[in-house]
This record gives sequence, C-alpha cells and structure tokens, in this order.
Amino acid sequence: MIELEQVTKTFVAGGAKPVRALQAIVLRIERGEMVAIRGASGSGKSSLLNILGCLDRPTSGRYLFEGHDVAGASDRQLSRLRARRIGFIFQSFHLLDRITALEQVELPALYQGARAHPVAPRERARALLTRVGLADRLRHYPSQLSGGEQQRVAVARALMNDPSLILADEPTGNLDAAAGREVMALLAELREEGRTVILVTHDDAVARRAQRQVLLRDGNMETA
Ligand SMILES: Nc1ncnc2c1ncn2[C@@H]1O[C@H](COP(=O)(O)OP(=O)(O)OP(=O)(O)O)[C@@H](O)[C@H]1O
Ligand SMILES: [Mg+2]
Repeated sequence: MIELEQVTKTFVAGGAKPVRALQAIVLRIERGEMVAIRGASGSGKSSLLNILGCLDRPTSGRYLFEGHDVAGASDRQLSRLRARRIGFIFQSFHLLDRITALEQVELPALYQGARAHPVAPRERARALLTRVGLADRLRHYPSQLSGGEQQRVAVARALMNDPSLILADEPTGNLDAAAGREVMALLAELREEGRTVILVTHDDAVARRAQRQVLLRDGNMETA
C-alpha cells in the first residue's frame, strides 16, 4: 500500500543552512498494518508523516501510495488523494471552535474531492459519532467536551470519507491514560477493519499496540 524508496526531505529556511530532516528512508507498509513511528524531538517524525499523508513531497526519492506516484503528482491530485483516501488525527484535535461535533464530522464530506456517497453527510456524521460513543454529544461544541471526547470527534471526522489510511501525530499526547486507551482501542478497531494506521508516539504502551515500530534517529530509520 505504501512504498518509500530512498526518500529524503531537506528544508531550507531563511538563509539558515539546509536541514536534512529525512535521509534515504526506505519503508514498505502493507494494507491493514498498524505502524508506530518513534524518535526524539527533531528526528523527522512529523516530516515523515507529512510525506506519508501527501501534505508534502519528498525532496528526492519515490513515494508510491496505492500505486500512485506522489512525488510526481500535482497539488490538485494530492489534495484529491488526501480527501478521498487519508484521515488525519492530531495531538491537539484541531477541531473548529464554533461548530458542533456533528458539523465537525460532516465537514470532510463537503470538501472538494470528496466522493459522492449515497447516505447524506449529516446522517453519516451521526452514525460515526455514535460509533465512537458520542451519540449524546452531537450538538456540543469543542469547549463543552473533554479532551478524550474531542479526540473521539476527531477520529469520527477522520473516518468521514472512509479512508484506507489513518495518520495520527501523537493522538494520545494530550489525553490522560484512560482516554488514551479509548482512542487506541478505536484505532485498533480501524486496523481490524483493514485500514492502515500509522501513528507517531512517545508512549511505550501506545507503541506496543502496533505490529511494527519504526525508530527515527536524525532522519535515519531503524526498524525495531
Ligand atoms: N518547514 C520546515 N522548515 C525548516 N525546517 C524544518 C521544517 N519542518 C521541520 N524542520 C526541521 O526538520 C527536522 C525534523 O523536524 P520534525 O518536525 O519532522 O521532527 P519531529 O520528529 O516531528 O519532532 P517533535 O517530536 O518535536 O515533533 C527538525 O530539525 C526541524 O527543525
Ligand atoms: Mg513532530
């Protein structure tokens, strides 16, 4: 499903000397795998996740996502690919302040590039929130939800377009242990459905739930 061949990422920012955030990453991830990416701060985890999520292109090397050559795709092709195939979950939830849980989850279906679906977005949003245990929080705003609840809204939102790949950057980083376990249980369920889950984490217990751990050190990869 995912193949990185000798992928590098170099950042050049404001006259500073270029940073080689990723050096010759070679990585193959099969459909339905859960992979944990670990490494010290600055080791390249987010850079790698951004490339995997087609938010950024490699500086050199090849990235094949479901057979699509990402390095050579246009911005429009990449945003379509993201909208249709990839769900994102972030450490700080990234919910919008002024809309309800239901509206947050509906939103991805309204983006350009989302696939037409026989069931109306409102209805699917309701079903997804029910699935993550929030049937009684549909009309709540983020400020009225606990951290764990907000992250479950984000999981439901990530599922709206029925993605084959879920990417999560420290999804449990802002949660207490119990809420973190709930979110991990949801991610494990998604994997059991055959979705691929790739997550960045600093937490041993979280990483152990993955089949495979990828350790980054100064932009280089070690498989643990
Ligand atoms: N847009 C950018 N422009 C310039 N340098 C960048 C940019 N993004 C990342 N870097 C640099 O690339 C390196 C890797 O950064 P990255 O964000 O991938 O690390 P990380 O492993 O996610 O760290 P953390 O655990 O702190 O989130 C760092 O040295 C960082 O300063
Ligand atoms: Mg990071």
